[in-house]
Amino acid sequence: MSSEPKKIAILTSGGDCAGLNAVIRSVVLSASALGWEVFGLKDGTQGLIDRPIRVRKLTVDDVGATMLRQGGTVLGTTNKGNPFAYPMPDGTTKDMSQTIIEGFRSLGCEAMIGIGGDGSLAILRRLAQQGQFTLIGIPKTIDNDLGKTETSIGFDTAVSVATEALDRLQPTAASHDRIMVLEVMGRDAGHIALTAGIAGGADVILLPEIPYSLEKVAAHIKKIRENGRNFALIVVSEAVKTMNGEPLMKSFYGGQQRFGGIGHYIGAEIAELCQAETRVTVLGHVQRGGQPSAQDRMLAAAFGVHAVGLIRDGKEDRMVAWSNREIIDVPILDAISNYQMVDPEGSLVKTARGLGICLGN
Ligand code: F6P
Repeated sequence: MSSEPKKIAILTSGGDCAGLNAVIRSVVLSASALGWEVFGLKDGTQGLIDRPIRVRKLTVDDVGATMLRQGGTVLGTTNKGNPFAYPMPDGTTKDMSQTIIEGFRSLGCEAMIGIGGDGSLAILRRLAQQGQFTLIGIPKTIDNDLGKTETSIGFDTAVSVATEALDRLQPTAASHDRIMVLEVMGRDAGHIALTAGIAGGADVILLPEIPYSLEKVAAHIKKIRENGRNFALIVVSEAVKTMNGEPLMKSFYGGQQRFGGIGHYIGAEIAELCQAETRVTVLGHVQRGGQPSAQDRMLAAAFGVHAVGLIRDGKEDRMVAWSNREIIDVPILDAISNYQMVDPEGSLVKTARGLGICLGN
């Protein structure tokens, strides 16, 4: 058996969220306790495309007292482009997978820990299969749409931020007799809107998973007003479509398309239908930044330790997951192929209905 310490690599991929640094710290602490070396890959797979490759050795000293609490990712990340069809300056695309695999091999690492959502884990898995290296996935996404895990890093913090926004909107709504619309993130899935809407006392929650009618929303608000309360809180998930079934998108530099605009659409329509003042808050990336919540730190600690344990035990192609108060691990393929929308018949939807919250239908 080799007396060389085991070497592993770690990267963060896809949109950032709170808790990524806490995961990196957990991996470094638990791997170092086994005498292993940890290499942090910069900017997702981009650090392995560039030459020289961009990588940072991570020691216990590097992950000291502040990293647990720090938002973002010290490794950097990217949520655009696919290395199998990498955009070139001349507008064409090129398969950079072999370049990434060669970069990874040059480090002499035995395994990679990839912290990502469904898209990133699918790409990393393809790279691991092609390059025949061990990959262990750690789920992160504020959208909480990855399958086979009850929650992912970043979701709880995003929900806490959205809940705090409702706490702050409620008194100003009440002072001015206004209807406040809060647009929250959640590419395609309404988990943030539903959870924060319940936690923050919303009157209406609109989700991409449940078709809505503006008339029903307006009727609900009119009833609230007839009962003597002149303000209301509406939470709308960014992926909700207009009444014509159109998703509202915005274009950004480089042609990237992102959701944006549904909050203002709902605000304008409800103002007309209810003959009331509406104001719209688009929470945006505030949900991703800042310190991780206690739950995200706890999950980060547990996921990191378990991921290192899987490598120690010779496992591969597994994603760590949270289920029934326990850390488990599942095949990465099962997680990425079971996209997790809000279940319109699920218990949180029933909870919202039980509270008298209008879901638009
Ligand atoms: O997937 C995470 C997420 O924050 C989505 O909720 C949101 O639609 C998207 O990323 C925003 O992406 P970007 O950071 O590129 O604007």
